[in-house]
This record gives sequence, structure tokens and C-alpha cells, in this order.
Amino acid sequence: MAPVSIKRVLISESVDPRCKTILQENGIEVTERPNMSKDELIAQIKDFDGLVVRSATKVTADVICAARSLKVIGRAGTGVDNVDVDVATKKGIIVMNTPSGNTISAAELTCALVMSLSRHIPQAVMSMKAENWDRKKFMGTELYGKTLGILGLGRIGKEVATRMQSFGMRTIGYDPITPPEVSASWGVEQMSLEELWPQCDYITVHTPLMPSTTGLLNDASFTKCKRGVKVVNCARGGIIDEAALLRALESGQCGGAGLDVFEEEPPTNWALVKHPNVVCCPHLGASTKEAQTRCGQDIALQIVDMVKGKALVGAVNAQVLASTFNSESQQWIHLGEAMGRVLKACSSSKQPYAQVHITTKGDRLKKSTGFLSSAAVVGLLTEGSENCPNLVNALPLAEETGITIKKSHIDVNGANGSCMVEVFVNGSVYKALGSVQAEVPVLLELNGSVFKQPVPLSGNLLFFKVAGSPQLLPAVTGVLAAAGMEMDFFSASTASDGDQWYSVGIKSLLGDLSALKPLVKEAAQLAV
Ligand code: NAD
Ligand code: MLT
Repeated sequence: MAPVSIKRVLISESVDPRCKTILQENGIEVTERPNMSKDELIAQIKDFDGLVVRSATKVTADVICAARSLKVIGRAGTGVDNVDVDVATKKGIIVMNTPSGNTISAAELTCALVMSLSRHIPQAVMSMKAENWDRKKFMGTELYGKTLGILGLGRIGKEVATRMQSFGMRTIGYDPITPPEVSASWGVEQMSLEELWPQCDYITVHTPLMPSTTGLLNDASFTKCKRGVKVVNCARGGIIDEAALLRALESGQCGGAGLDVFEEEPPTNWALVKHPNVVCCPHLGASTKEAQTRCGQDIALQIVDMVKGKALVGAVNAQVLASTFNSESQQWIHLGEAMGRVLKACSSSKQPYAQVHITTKGDRLKKSTGFLSSAAVVGLLTEGSENCPNLVNALPLAEETGITIKKSHIDVNGANGSCMVEVFVNGSVYKALGSVQAEVPVLLELNGSVFKQPVPLSGNLLFFKVAGSPQLLPAVTGVLAAAGMEMDFFSASTASDGDQWYSVGIKSLLGDLSALKPLVKEAAQLAV
């Protein structure tokens, strides 16, 4: 991928100072402005290429749309639910997080909440501070031999499991993605939720908040649990339905809850927080010096690596770019974009496009179909789209415009690699076949015409289709010469009859192509 130019970064929250230092050491200007109102952020964001946030800054659609040159939103932490990732993607902005920087801290806080629930530590502390010595009230239970149900067996779920096993807890869990044999290797037996609910003494959730996890624990699931089950949410408010939790606490169906996160932060309804069997923290899972240092440092290093074109780590909306960070891919990206532009120029009277098919061929392009498809769509959509198309937003923009994109790869051992782009428009199909030869992106075929000499896709190009015999060619070149056109190269089609496309490399674009019209069936010029 071409290095992304980031000159100015705004840090809108208290992020570890290493973040600023690393960015500055790499020539990026940094402005720290914590605690801005939304209007202030909207006013500020205009001048920045990068934004670094934690979880308090709400990077909503209006903030993103107010930005003029924003290229990256860096989340120093895990959850990106405070960023409108869909809008950022459509605007071509990379969103990245630092998913592992605070795993241990969040896992440790989860374990601390489990222990607090088993021994009522916070309540006992409060009682003593009120000058009481009450030993009966805070009778606890051991964790040893109890069953912990873990919903979400990703990074944090795994760390919680291994830590709580050291207390002698049996760990069971559920995760639709993590394979059972993987979680079994760190001691978690997976099962369906229906099997899990009645077995748990404790349940802890470690999933993202999304439609399928919202209210994962609700009235119905609480009734399937053991009476007195204790629950912990150190992931995201809303995974445990708060109203259902309060009802379960009041009825005794739930014996206690450890909460670090809330549906609304800070909460406006304090009934749950004030319940005597609730132990809670104001979203402190990642609030350790170590986690903050790691996250601040990681996000800065990830931005610097991206700027230097070294690697793309932590991108949540631009995975296609991850395989573009090597010099060879630059030529292929250029090829894809140029083929898209050639097809757009040659089909300009026939829009809108209905479908675009991209087919890569050959071993070396096995992992390139994704970014080559995006590149071809960038070429097709450039000009005429109010959102500047780039590799991040090309496919969502195409989808929004009603274009169906089909990508495929044909594996051919040892082949040099080629890419075919087919555009279906108004009942016609336009096709381009290209490759990279001796580090130069070249066009090999256009709409069935195979060029005698591969056409280098750089500079100014003129394409025209001549009907029937090539006797017309001298007349065409005569018109071009009379128009003062200087030719860099000329590439004819290998076929000698039927409609054939020709390509001419020209020093500068012609004012208009009307002089050619009587002689050719179609003509298009473009700078690539
Ligand atoms: P992760 O992506 O590594 O793991 C999440 C797991 O949830 C994945 O394995 C996924 O397959 C699983 N999952 C998805 N849908 C599920 C479902 N319906 N049922 C069960 N499992 C499901 O994420 P992580 O780094 O472990 O973080 C987990 C959560 O913790 C996230 O919500 C994150 O934002 C939050 N978090 C909170 C704090 C804090 O300060 N309290 C700190 C860090 C992370
Ligand atoms: C996270 O998802 O990383 C956390 O909620 C921690 C935070 O940034 O405050």
C-alpha cells in the first residue's frame, strides 16, 4: 500500500504520554485536547489527518463527516463501539484498535470481581469504614470446586479461564467462533447455552456488544440458571440486560453481580448500582498503568508503521489492505486502478454499472484478489463519486451504488499472474486483462482485442475501436497527426478482422476526439 500521509494527529482523551512521544519522534505533529464537547470536536477535527481516542470520545457520523482530511481513527483500546465504523469505512477512513494491550488488565479485574462476589469484600470494607465489626453478615463461599461459565472465549475469556482454574474452578463456556478443541486446550469445555445455564455458579461475559450478544443474559436465561447464580460483566454494558438483572437480584435468582460496564455510562438510573449485592467499578477494566502504556504505545506504533508503509496492524475495517504492504503489491494496485479507469473511459456512455467481476489468476495473486478488486473499483468509481474512493471504501461505495461485485481466483501453478476485470453495463460487457511485467503494469487485452505489444499503463493513453479492416488505420493516424498528437507508442491488436481495439501512448491528452468520430466506432482517452 502507498504510505498513508499523516501529518497532524489529534488526541482527544487522556492517552499514555508514550503515544504523543512516539508520534512526534516520527515527525507527526500532535495536539492533545481532552474533554472536548461534541461541537468542539467537530470544529477541531477539520484540521487533522489522524484522531486517537479511548472510549469516552464518541466518534459519530457527524464528527466523521466534519473531517476534511481524516485518514485514520486510532482507538487506544479494544472495543470500537464508540466509533461509527460504517461511516468511517464509507469515507475511506481506516479504523484501528489495539486489541491485546489491555487483555490482562481486563481479565484481572474480572477475576477480582468474581472474588469480591464470593467474599463480599467491597461490602465488608464499606461496613468497617462505617466503624462496624460484623463477621456474620459477610459469610462467603469458596470458589474451589465451583463452576464458572464463560461466554466469549476470545482473548480475555481465555485469560480469565486460566486464572480461575488456579482457584480450582471448573471452567465451561460458549463461543460460536472459537473451536471447542482450541478452548479445551486451555481447560474450557464448550457446550450450548442451554446446557451451560443450569451448571454455572458464576457466569462472566467476554463478547463484543452486537445484536447477537445484546441481552445474552435476560429474564429467560436467568430462569434457566441455578438459583443464586453470580454474574460478572467486564465487557460491555447491555450484554447482561440491566432491567432483567435487577429483577433477578431482587428475586434472589441472581445472588450477586460484578459490573464494570453499563448500558449508559455514567449510569443515570442508579438502582442497579445501589443494590446491596452489586459490586461495581466505573469502567476500570483497562485502567492500569501497564494497559494504558501498552495501548498508547501500540496505537502510536501502528500509525507510524502505516505511515511508513511497513505494515497495517489492528485495522478493523480495512483488512484488505493488510496484504498490500510490500513493494510488489504497489504495481498490482496500480494495475487494478488503471484497468478500472480504462474500462470506465471506454464505457463512459453506458453507465450505471450493474456488475463488476474481478478474476485473478496464478499462484502469486492468491492473496491479492481482495485488494485488486478494490483497486479496480477505485478506478471505475473515481470521478463522479462525492466520497473519494480508495481501497478502504471502494467495495462499500460500489454496493451502495447498486453494483454487484464478484471476486474469484484461479490457481495456476507457476503462472506469472494476471487480472481480468469485466464490467457489465446496459446489456454489454467490457473486459480488460492485465498483468505486471518487469515491474510495469500492462494491459494485455481490451474487450477481446489482444494487443501485439502489452500496453504500459502509465501516462496518457488513447484507445479506439476500428470497425472492419485495418485499412482505416492510416486515416486514423493521419487525423491524430493533424491534431498535433505526438505518439509514444502504438499497439495494435493481433487479429486482423472484426472490430479491434488499438492503443496509443500520447504525450498529452487531445482537446476533443470529434475529428476521430467519423473513422472509429469508439474512442476514449485518459491519463493513468
Ligand atoms: P475478542 O474479540 O478477543 O473475544 C470476543 C469473543 O466473543 C470472540 O471469541 C467471539 O467469537 C465471541 N463471541 C461473539 N459473539 C458471541 C456470542 N453470541 N456468544 C458467545 N461468544 C461470542 O475480544 P476481547 O479482547 O476478549 O474483549 C472482550 C470484550 O471485552 C469486548 O467487548 C471488549 O470491548 C471488552 N473490553 C472491556 C474492557 C474494560 O475496560 N472493561 C477492556 C478490554 C476489553
Ligand atoms: C476497551 O474496550 O478497550 C475498554 O473498554 C477500555 C477503555 O478503553 O477504557
